[in-house]
Amino acid sequence: MQDNRNYGGHLLRAAKSARGFMLLCSLNVIALLFVLASMANASKRDLQGHISKMVTSRPHACASCHEQALEYPVLYANRTVMYTHGGLPIHGNVLELGVYTGLNGLDMYEALSPELLVLVDPWVDTDDPRFKATNQEKVAQRFEGKRARIIKGTEDDVLRHYGPSFFSCVYIDTSHTYDDTMSQLIKLEDRVKDDGFICGHDFGHPVKRNYGVVGAVVEFMVSRKWLLTHVTVDGPYRSFCMTRKRIKNVIGVDV
Ligand SMILES: C[S@@+](CC[C@H](N)C(=O)[O-])C[C@H]1O[C@@H](n2cnc3c(N)ncnc32)[C@H](O)[C@@H]1O
Repeated sequence: MQDNRNYGGHLLRAAKSARGFMLLCSLNVIALLFVLASMANASKRDLQGHISKMVTSRPHACASCHEQALEYPVLYANRTVMYTHGGLPIHGNVLELGVYTGLNGLDMYEALSPELLVLVDPWVDTDDPRFKATNQEKVAQRFEGKRARIIKGTEDDVLRHYGPSFFSCVYIDTSHTYDDTMSQLIKLEDRVKDDGFICGHDFGHPVKRNYGVVGAVVEFMVSRKWLLTHVTVDGPYRSFCMTRKRIKNVIGVDV
């Protein structure tokens, strides 16, 4: 009887400690779930923070966007969107080399609100009616009363009129051949501020019609240490922008 009672007591104690053990296990599982949930929440918050940082680092036409280094090329639907949302410097001196009738110049003027927009084109009268001198008159009408200077000439006239580090943004849209593009990039490089941008058109058509913008820009970037910051995705007419390298690449290596 005594033994049986003892046996019952053991059983009771065992059952109690088993309950305790189960309780402990449940508490551990709950704690683990809590930790996992807060980790998931934290990484969700990190992600949200990261996304909102990315979004706010590209505010509409911000004043000193180079501070928020554009670390790798960002795609834009077209150049108008690139001007309005690409964080290119506002209130700076802007150059368009290759103006034609001035429509793109006007887009840049409205989005970047430059202190001065310099529009340079030889407007030579060729067999191609699109490039007749009358285009210069159209440009003159379009920019009447605006902070713009129209120069009938080429990149060499830019060099004559403006000194080093004058432009915050240069947009090149001329013959699109490799030789012309490379020569214009090299000539204009020092006219661009340290934190300025060189942009341009037809960053497509690598071979078509003897276009060589892609080749020239890529070679220039690699040899002169510039970094591609913007690309538009509007077919073969893509625009691009680049700036001098002052940042580390994605994995933190100085490039
Ligand atoms: C494709 S159009 C420019 C179009 C204009 N950027 C636009 O998007 O509305 C090319 C222009 O480049 C001009 N051009 C050609 N060689 C040039 C040079 N070396 N410097 C400046 N303009 C040049 C031509 O006269 C022509 O008007």
